[in-house]
Amino acid sequence: KKVALAYSGGLDTSVILKWLQDTYGCEVVTFTADIGQKEDLSFVRGKAERLGVKEMFVDDLREDFVRDYVFPMFRANAIYEGEYLLGTSIARPLIAQRLVEIANQTGCDAIAHGATGKGNDQVRFELGAYALRPDIKVIAPWREWDLNSRERLLAYAEQHNIPIEKKKGGGSPYSMDANALHISYEGGGLEDPYWEPEEDMWRWTVSPESAPATAETIEIEYAHGDPVALNGQALSPYAMLATLNELGGKHGIGRLDLVENRYVGMKSRGCYETPGGTIMLRAHRAIESITLDREVAHLKDELIAKYASLIYNGYWWSPERRMLQTMIDASQDKVNGVVRLKLYKGNVIVVGRKSPDSLFDARVATFEDDGGAYNQKDAEGFIKLNALRLRTLAGRG
Ligand code: ARG
Ligand code: SIN
Repeated sequence: KKVALAYSGGLDTSVILKWLQDTYGCEVVTFTADIGQKEDLSFVRGKAERLGVKEMFVDDLREDFVRDYVFPMFRANAIYEGEYLLGTSIARPLIAQRLVEIANQTGCDAIAHGATGKGNDQVRFELGAYALRPDIKVIAPWREWDLNSRERLLAYAEQHNIPIEKKKGGGSPYSMDANALHISYEGGGLEDPYWEPEEDMWRWTVSPESAPATAETIEIEYAHGDPVALNGQALSPYAMLATLNELGGKHGIGRLDLVENRYVGMKSRGCYETPGGTIMLRAHRAIESITLDREVAHLKDELIAKYASLIYNGYWWSPERRMLQTMIDASQDKVNGVVRLKLYKGNVIVVGRKSPDSLFDARVATFEDDGGAYNQKDAEGFIKLNALRLRTLAGRG
């Protein structure tokens, strides 16, 4: 009888809003989040009001998103199928969490979202919602209605007096999704994986070719695995990511064009811009390189694919993701220090790293006289014992 809808204010979710009222005769509560997508959301209240909504929530969740979702994920160096930085995937559990919270607060027995029945997002929203409120009802209009073309959607909008104002991204042939971590493009010409998108598809970054011909050097300070200051200036999580996005965008950093495996089984071609995230991943690995024990670092690396799949597939709120997170967070205690990087024509080049908790020992590592810090004779037995089984095998022939 009462539904909480994840409402972007765009055409699709506005049609969904009307459709829910008509089809289910229910009252709709809307929830719109600013998670750094850089869209003016001032129109959302008025629009929802005109569509008969009495309770609407427009929340600024930019800091929550980066602090509680993006940063924990970057502590793990998460990357899906070796390339994708999970920009859309990591925002969904936050939307699900807040949507359920609003549903509880306003007495809704159901939630609704605008994800299609072909994608990952439906899974992420719904697994999140069920994990947080097991008895919630879910309405996914894209899986139910017959408005499955642009034309029919527009006709429905016209017929029901839903304003089709030109919003940002209007006229784009792509399905896009943006937040503080990334912007994504799917569909349109990208459905041919051999086709190269035109230059003006990309909105956040210049091409590496047209990026400045001089490198820019930056310094990022880490505390317990999170970036906390840039060039000596302390920044909040969102401000850090937003600033790195600007810097990366200016230098053509973080473009990706890939084909990924969706959880529902299909292959999908997507283009992504993750300028700040690309810098953060590099910088984090650099600071870990001097502060993490080898075996801890290697074990973390072995878990990356697992952890990334959990996020990609929508299991943020699962016990196994939480368990891994506890472990990852525990590894970050001494991940403190400063990384110096050069940004240059699409590249992020690490040029220095230092830490009060460094495990790098110049006395041991030196090619010069180490004054007895390391006994080279010890290496002989170390190698001999490790070679024992290889020699035994070789002797058998
Ligand atoms: N394929 C990416 C993912 O699964 C991006 C999805 C974009 N979602 C969207 N509603 N446009 O994470
Ligand atoms: C959608 O189908 O709604 C977007 C793509 C995805 O979720 O993977």
